[in-house]
Amino acid sequence: MASVGADTFNDLVERFLGQRLPDTLADQIDWPALAPDAQGFILRLLGLMQRSFCPATEINAQMIWLLATVTPAMLPSAWGGRIPPLTSQGRHRKLDAYVTHQAWPSGDGRPIFIDLGCGFPPVTTVDTAKHLPDWSVYGVDPSFSRYVLYDAEGRYACFNREGQFQYFQSPLKPLNDTTEAVRNSFQSLFDDLYPHLPSPHDHERTLFARDGHTLLSNPIRDYEAENLNFIKSGIQDLQSPPARLIRCMNVLLYFEKEIREAMLTAIANLLADDGRLMTGFNHPFGIYARYAVYRKNSAGMVPCEFAFGLDNLRPLGTGPWVTLAEEDQEAELLADLTGAIRADRKFWNNFNTHVDTLQAKYGICTRGDDGFPQFTEGAQNAPPHALLEKTTALWHEVDAAGYTDGAIEALGRAGFTAWKNPVGDIAVHPPEGSLPTI
Ligand SMILES: C[S@@+](CC[C@H](N)C(=O)[O-])C[C@H]1O[C@@H](n2cnc3c(N)ncnc32)[C@H](O)[C@@H]1O
Repeated sequence: MASVGADTFNDLVERFLGQRLPDTLADQIDWPALAPDAQGFILRLLGLMQRSFCPATEINAQMIWLLATVTPAMLPSAWGGRIPPLTSQGRHRKLDAYVTHQAWPSGDGRPIFIDLGCGFPPVTTVDTAKHLPDWSVYGVDPSFSRYVLYDAEGRYACFNREGQFQYFQSPLKPLNDTTEAVRNSFQSLFDDLYPHLPSPHDHERTLFARDGHTLLSNPIRDYEAENLNFIKSGIQDLQSPPARLIRCMNVLLYFEKEIREAMLTAIANLLADDGRLMTGFNHPFGIYARYAVYRKNSAGMVPCEFAFGLDNLRPLGTGPWVTLAEEDQEAELLADLTGAIRADRKFWNNFNTHVDTLQAKYGICTRGDDGFPQFTEGAQNAPPHALLEKTTALWHEVDAAGYTDGAIEALGRAGFTAWKNPVGDIAVHPPEGSLPTI
């Protein structure tokens, strides 16, 4: 990304969105002090906001907090260059429901579902295997660790085959800001316990526990079930029987376009005839979802649907504009679609006012005299899950008031073929060239 020569974050906001933020918001981001990848993230975010005709007045304190603190700790550079294995239970519940809503041919044997880049602990794959008991589910990831060491509070560190520390996780704080002290204490604990661990065969799970600490070998085996197995592999090296469905969520966006396309080609080769790929991005609890559905046919693998959640239209967080590499075509398509909806005054004015009214009614935020959202005191002090519950209820209410249908009609007026998909998201037929055909 070329240098933009901006002095402050507010200069950039003004350059992209034509308006400055209140200093109380903008000054929380120390632009020159940010690492290059965090700067790249923000530049792409502002570019996508501009592309989606989103005004500066949608930027709020939560977005600024995310940009200043959470985002830098989620980027691969904060993880020593590794792609964070983070996932969360329930994240793909809607996508699991999407699978059961499809008409599938009745073939021989159990259909195969592959969760590519499933992360660890592989809780979304476990969710899927429970949701699809008649399928054979495989969780695949190159970064399954050989050893995991838990402390009494459930915090854990992962170690490779050579016993070297890889990363640390606290269930209460799933970010990577591990201090040297934490790293050293887990490493020395590992060195103490390891000699007592029954030596595992290649894939065997063994355990040694002492004083509230538990060291496990091949911890991934603990998650296996009658219809669920795990394979340590990257997308390009995977050998598997033809899959009816591959899910690859929150993985491809980490890679440059050329590598993404090579990965899509590898995925096409793993699919059965008429098999499908679901790929995209979402946040924990499935919010801010955007995903493409591809279908394999005799000509190759073609994108047949691009879908997104209604919450992308008026986010409180940065979700719709999160990208980790240049030329993220799904994020660009989302920006174009939300831009088309925003430009449709017939829909947008009512919708926008309705969301403002509900945000006030739910005690989340109100608009200040300067037009910027102000979080209520209750929302500022509420635990994150309470705010999430309120926003979830809010979006149910917006949907029930007919605004998903209204957004779909707005896309129709803008020339897109749009519909509500079986799980209630806004879907379009991807315009020619907007997503790769393999
Ligand atoms: C952010 S996690 C996503 C986890 C899960 N799919 C989800 O949506 O919650 C990204 C995962 O991609 C995995 N990954 C990285 N490179 C990969 C590759 N070449 N093939 C498959 N998975 C890969 C990482 O190890 C990491 O566990």
